Amino acid sequence: MSKRFLRLGVNIDHVATVRNSRGGEHPDPIRAAQKAIVAGADGITAHLREDRRHIRDKDITRLRDSIKKPLNLEMAATHEMIEIALDVKPNAVCIVPEKREEQTTEGGLDVRANKSFLSEFVERLCKADIRVSLFIEPCSKQLEAARNVGAAVVELHTGRYCDTSGVFRREELERIEQAAIYADNIGLECHAGHGLTFETVGPIASIEAVVELNIGHFLMGEAMITGLEHAVRKMRMVMDEARSRKDST
Ligand code: PXP
Repeated sequence: MSKRFLRLGVNIDHVATVRNSRGGEHPDPIRAAQKAIVAGADGITAHLREDRRHIRDKDITRLRDSIKKPLNLEMAATHEMIEIALDVKPNAVCIVPEKREEQTTEGGLDVRANKSFLSEFVERLCKADIRVSLFIEPCSKQLEAARNVGAAVVELHTGRYCDTSGVFRREELERIEQAAIYADNIGLECHAGHGLTFETVGPIASIEAVVELNIGHFLMGEAMITGLEHAVRKMRMVMDEARSRKDST
């Protein structure tokens, strides 16, 4: 049997975090998205948070209008966000839990406890031809609830797997693998993400039932380190050229 293709969604939120720290336009998350696509990303993910701490409304419309790969909008299940999603019409929406004071998405959605609210949400997005995924813990009860509210896709939270080590990490990996297989068996497309690094991605990528990974923070940190050499060399060159022009006048 041929192996299923594993897509990579690159989350560009933290390019916006750096941009916003100075209040200007640089670095531009849209330019980062384009670079990620050139390098092999199969899609771009961006989280429009209620407090707009990184990605802003304008980034979402610019991404939709300028990238040539699918846009996956992460958002909380709020009335404000659904109106934005229906207006912008990204290819996909991933519904995540959101707490104002958290540093990043902590834990998965409790789909079981919010069934009727989420059903309505998922239905409205699906009617607009938007693929909906629910970000959940790797747990069969949440998977069943996700299917019951009409989601076609789930994204399994890999945060605990990444944050632990030794036997705890192995147990969490097992939980993710079992959940991915179960998702596949009950007809849900299975994605995974959160906290993945070069060190932790391998075992998750080898789970055949997982067809998409969404990765952001680690990639942006790596890009800063590995891209620094190129940026510093270019700055050195621009400075030296300017000085030598001045010397020859
Ligand atoms: N998937 C979901 C649903 C997320 O909320 C996030 C974080 O925004 C990610 C994936 C990416 O996580 P990280 O930035 O840790 O790679």
